[in-house]
Amino acid sequence: MARIYNFNAGPASLPLPVLEKAQAEMTDFPGAGMSVMEMSHRSKSFQAIVDGAEANVRKLMGVSDDYAVLFLQGGASLQFAMIQMNLRRPGKSADYIDSGSWASKAIKEAKIGGETNVIWSGKEEKYIRMPKASELSFTPGAEYVHICSNETIGGIRFPKFPKTDAPLIADMSSEIMSRVIDVNQFGMIYAGAQKNIGPSGLALVIIRKDLIERTPETTPIFLRYKTHADEGSLYNTPNTWGIYILKLVTDYVESLGGLAVMEKINTKKANALYGLIDSSDFWRCPVEKESRSIMNVVWRLPSEELEEQFIKEAKAAGFEGLKGHRSVGGIRASIYNAVTKEAVDALISFMKAFEAKA
Ligand SMILES: Cc1ncc(COP(=O)(O)O)c(C=O)c1O
Repeated sequence: MARIYNFNAGPASLPLPVLEKAQAEMTDFPGAGMSVMEMSHRSKSFQAIVDGAEANVRKLMGVSDDYAVLFLQGGASLQFAMIQMNLRRPGKSADYIDSGSWASKAIKEAKIGGETNVIWSGKEEKYIRMPKASELSFTPGAEYVHICSNETIGGIRFPKFPKTDAPLIADMSSEIMSRVIDVNQFGMIYAGAQKNIGPSGLALVIIRKDLIERTPETTPIFLRYKTHADEGSLYNTPNTWGIYILKLVTDYVESLGGLAVMEKINTKKANALYGLIDSSDFWRCPVEKESRSIMNVVWRLPSEELEEQFIKEAKAAGFEGLKGHRSVGGIRASIYNAVTKEAVDALISFMKAFEAKA
């Protein structure tokens, strides 16, 4: 079977050249005589892979030496726990913005460990937008401010990041490396790899080095950022395959011209799709325009029956992963970096034909 158009939310599409390279190196990584999966994480070959992956992240995102770049296990969800265990010292509080399902999960985890201030919530409005700067007032003395910069399920993203005195921490799982950002605005950025930069089970963490020193002694050793920073992400056996694929993906993004080029392509793809959705009453995007994600585009049809039919016919036509998250319904197309403009154009043509005959 030929490769289909993959609009999955994560794990998601990976660039075909990356998969082909991994395939070519599968049984015999150059100079190693074995697969990456079979090599020691202490070997020279693997050290070169992890160093290369870190160098790529630093170059593409403009990460200075003030930050550590870590490759951790447990996905983004473990970060929900590690953040509050490491960065909120005893007796202190932390601010959280509740922008949707993923921010809520981070909040749930934060509440377990200490005082958690939910300083804004979009819940009553059904998470259709991000907060405006004027709606935010931060808690004096809070240890950090946590946001989810792009809500994968709701299809919303911060057009501009909040300006905070406390370190800003962002879950960028579903938009990492999709647009140019200034890392220096953040105390920490983290992302599960499985949307834009690699396979699942791997989390990329970019954290300001001074924050690594905050961790209370009661935090288990494995769950301390310092443990992993001191050992160059090799404290224990890491997700070697995941780091290898991340290295290949970032090589590929670099070869395309980096994040400025990625952002241009992504914006074009998203504008084309939103353009069609806005062009008639048949489609309806529930998200406020300013907050629209360029990675996860969500929309509705006139009825749930039509939505079901749309998903069914789309699947038959070779478009996978268009069903909205089970918690919200509707349609969602995740158009991550590896989803080509050609794939989005093909989806748009399919949508036009569907509308014409409905
Ligand atoms: C924005 C966001 N944060 C966190 C997660 C959780 O990631 P993981 O499954 O790697 O723990 C996801 C997963 O889809 C996500 O979209």
